[in-house]
Amino acid sequence: MDSQPHVALIGMMGSGKSTVGFWLARSEGLRFVDLDAAIEGRQGRPIPEIFEADGEERFRDLEQAELTECLTSVQPLVISCGGGAVLRAENRAMLRDRAWACWLRATIETLGQRVRAGENRPLLGNDPAVALAAISAARSGLYAETAHEVVDVDGLEAEQVAGHISRIWPLSHSTTGEVG
Ligand code: S3P
Repeated sequence: MDSQPHVALIGMMGSGKSTVGFWLARSEGLRFVDLDAAIEGRQGRPIPEIFEADGEERFRDLEQAELTECLTSVQPLVISCGGGAVLRAENRAMLRDRAWACWLRATIETLGQRVRAGENRPLLGNDPAVALAAISAARSGLYAETAHEVVDVDGLEAEQVAGHISRIWPLSHSTTGEVG
């Protein structure tokens, strides 16, 4: 098997990773894993509660464990990563080695239109626009160093982005397309 069997969607909150991942997996006949949903399912509690009760570092431990499990899975996956999955160097290295990582890049205006305060995103606080700008400035370099490909998503519907990724993903036409 290729050493990079998975597609990993990376990028800021509100860039559309979950919806694009859903459509991409569907069109490619691959299993889709939303990392945030997987963490919530395993923990039996929502992300804001994990942040509140256990703190961000604990959440990052859970995120790293979930990402590791996905990236070491034999079955090829489409993985939508939480926006902060690139914060840890180990995660960035794994994403580069074990996945084809695609950065869904969006302007702050686009991100601001797509996220709302209190929407399962504890890092945004009461002023999402300000928080998004600060987080994006701090992370853009990490997304850039992790990504094999960058797709600008402003003005595009999730299905259009998924279609574009299908065309540029180098493995999309060489996998077996097994559905799990
Ligand atoms: C986070 C993004 C969220 C979620 C958590 C932290 C981040 O995921 O993992 O709230 O640090 O950017 P989405 O990017 O899917 O919203």
